Amino acid sequence: MSNKTFTMVKPHAVADNNIGGIIQMIETAGFRIVAMKKVLLTSENAGKFYEVHKERPFYAELCETMSAGPIIPMILEKENAVADFRALIGSTDPADAAEGTIRKKYAKSKGENAVHGSDSDENAQIESSFFFSGIEQF
Ligand code: CMP
Repeated sequence: MSNKTFTMVKPHAVADNNIGGIIQMIETAGFRIVAMKKVLLTSENAGKFYEVHKERPFYAELCETMSAGPIIPMILEKENAVADFRALIGSTDPADAAEGTIRKKYAKSKGENAVHGSDSDENAQIESSFFFSGIEQF
């Protein structure tokens, strides 16, 4: 089991000045920020990142939403990082997200759901190296 996961603060949350509030929840939950930057994806870049979803009906919308403005990708470290981070962010659909979760507080819809969180150690590694080189991780 790895102790790292990958997340992005999504464009709508960046535009609404919620970067700080989201990072505060992440740090308060005991995650250490290993890497962080501000990036503007093209729709094509977003499509590559979310390639596993390319057959899904929401893929085009996802590519548009994720390239609508800058994002904050981050690598986070904590024991049991992937599972604990998914618990912290809550369900994909904010209508189902539990009280106290990041999505309950900051998500607007399934597409504009404030943050991404890796679903496995393997994907955390793949997603981290999409954005960060080795010398950006410490
Ligand atoms: P994320 O954790 O970034 O991973 C894939 C994303 O697809 C997910 O968050 C949602 O934002 C988006 N998504 C999943 N299901 C739907 C849906 N039914 N409609 C729109 N977007 C969706």
